[in-house]
Amino acid sequence: IPVDDFDLVIFGATGDLAHRKILPGLYRRFVAGQIPKTAQIIGAARTEQDDDAFRAEAKAAIVEFGKVDEGSDTLADFLRHLGYVSIDAKGDGGWDELKSRMRAGAIHAFYFSVAPSLFGDLAEHLARFGIADDHTRIVVEKPFGRDLASAHALNAVLREHFKEEQIYRIDHYLGKETVQNLMAVRFANILFEPLWKSEYVDHVQITVAETVGVAGRGSYYDKSGAIRDMVQNHMMQLLCLIAMEPPYHFDPDAVRDEKLKVIRALEPLEPGDIVRGQYQATEDAPGYTDDAENPASRTESYVALKVRISNWRWQGTPFYLRTGKKLRARTSEIAITFKEPPHSIFDDEGGPKANELVIRLQPNEGMNLKVMIKEPGPGGMRLTQVPLDMSFADALGDDGTDMPDAYERLIMDVIRGNQTLFMRGDEVEAAWAWTDPIIEAWEGSKIRPEPYDAGSSGPEEALRLMHRDNRRWREIRA
Ligand code: BG6
Repeated sequence: IPVDDFDLVIFGATGDLAHRKILPGLYRRFVAGQIPKTAQIIGAARTEQDDDAFRAEAKAAIVEFGKVDEGSDTLADFLRHLGYVSIDAKGDGGWDELKSRMRAGAIHAFYFSVAPSLFGDLAEHLARFGIADDHTRIVVEKPFGRDLASAHALNAVLREHFKEEQIYRIDHYLGKETVQNLMAVRFANILFEPLWKSEYVDHVQITVAETVGVAGRGSYYDKSGAIRDMVQNHMMQLLCLIAMEPPYHFDPDAVRDEKLKVIRALEPLEPGDIVRGQYQATEDAPGYTDDAENPASRTESYVALKVRISNWRWQGTPFYLRTGKKLRARTSEIAITFKEPPHSIFDDEGGPKANELVIRLQPNEGMNLKVMIKEPGPGGMRLTQVPLDMSFADALGDDGTDMPDAYERLIMDVIRGNQTLFMRGDEVEAAWAWTDPIIEAWEGSKIRPEPYDAGSSGPEEALRLMHRDNRRWREIRA
């Protein structure tokens, strides 16, 4: 079913994100029949070119990144929705032309796929040229600032011209099907929620491991590091979805209010609760400093944290978070380790082991619940642990190729006017308020990150973070 008619303007349409994600994503929604016949997608950037040249550019991007056949008729049909206006964010050229293209009665959305330093200029021009009104929606990307002060300043600039209900801050992890599934699993089943608290949960592990390094984007990454790039946003969102109280409704502010409460309840981190790592060269692979082209860099490409949430539900249950580049395998998962039963009635030496629920976010999305059963055979009551393992693809008879990519989902939510999967301004600021002291303490020190081999499971020191609590990380494997 198509969404309501819209005009979507992509500022930064000639950039990497537009090529890799936004345009191929819109094309897939077109194939799915969601783009209305009269909808317009208008590219805007500094490059001087006409509609046809932009269509050719978009076509090349969709063929390459969307893996679409060049001769596809459907692609040709999609390209008719595209137009282009050459605009200088800092100057006045092009804005009247853009205004003349916008149709009355259609939903107007503006995707700021540009450096945050231009957000203010774009917002101000949209207002001054009478292009934006109270119904206009704007979409902004991460990084939303690099600390609390800059995020606060960005929010202030945007709020000069737009209300919070008009601002869609993207965290693409929220657009991932399996991340949304966390809410379905928790709040559409009676099974888990009664146990979802420190009384029954020993600890939680959240892992986002990547195999890619930073080659090609070192100039951004080196100024950022894993805490800014992954923890302040994606990891924090996962933590919130696992730890939050049930919202009263699946409604944008109800969900975001509950997430915000989790962030506000995070205890400040102690220096001993954090391990930073940086991948080093091996015989087969370059190290971080080679990829980032900065031999003196102290930026972390890996971080492991022990996080405590100071509220009634989670008092005493630590959340261990880790994320890193150039690790052994690409895998994102959340593992909830329950406590052991308080008393064992069996004589089996090992006794019952703790149940564990693992939610695999990517790849091979699914769930695995480890339960104790009797070991088969006549040898008495021996216990053994087996997995109740389910892959969503198998269970749903879907190989995943039809699953919408995070960006497709989120762009369509902008048009539908649904902010549930977008970050609210206060949420982003609260997340920075928690990460700022961690970053400041580090930047003020001379300590170097712990080295780990490219292709390994991360630094040794991270193992100790768990060992000293008599716990261990799950293995990182594909
Ligand atoms: C981005 C980060 O936000 O998320 C990247 O800037 C990271 O460094 C990426 O690689 C991970 O996203 P995904 O969807 O591949 O898990």
